[in-house]
Amino acid sequence: MTTADTKQSTSLREQIRKALSSQRQPTVTVLSSLLAVQDSIHYLPDEAIKETANFCGSTTNEVWSVASFYTNFRFTPPGEKTLDICWGPSCHILGAQQILNAVHREIGLTEEGESPDGKVTLKYNTCLGACAQGPCIAIDHHLIGKQTPESAARIVRELRG
Ligand code: FES
Repeated sequence: MTTADTKQSTSLREQIRKALSSQRQPTVTVLSSLLAVQDSIHYLPDEAIKETANFCGSTTNEVWSVASFYTNFRFTPPGEKTLDICWGPSCHILGAQQILNAVHREIGLTEEGESPDGKVTLKYNTCLGACAQGPCIAIDHHLIGKQTPESAARIVRELRG
């Protein structure tokens, strides 16, 4: 491990400890602690499991069993930007599949996940709440409607720089 790696790991542990100790609700649990850490650093690295176990007086196995039960927890860092593609009924009728195909091609993925350069996290969404504007996508929760395969691919190119 290099000095830079050690500094990064120390900083990560400090962020995790701060998130754990900043919980304000009356009942603090393993679940609330994991949520607090993910809200703070956007994923749960190994350090989060260990620090949560220390903080809650649990074992790492107990913390891991909670973390792995809930599908909303992620264990790898997200991309710099999140791209949601709506494939709900209205957007599907309006061409969401063609948009999804274009984005997959542009981003180099065949399913949800991180682009190879780590710039974009691609997620599917069952309705972004703007069906009349479909087909819809969202960048970091900012909705963009009336998409075409070309416009969505262009947005992906811009996100990846
Ligand atoms: S189905 Fe796409 S926004 Fe509702």
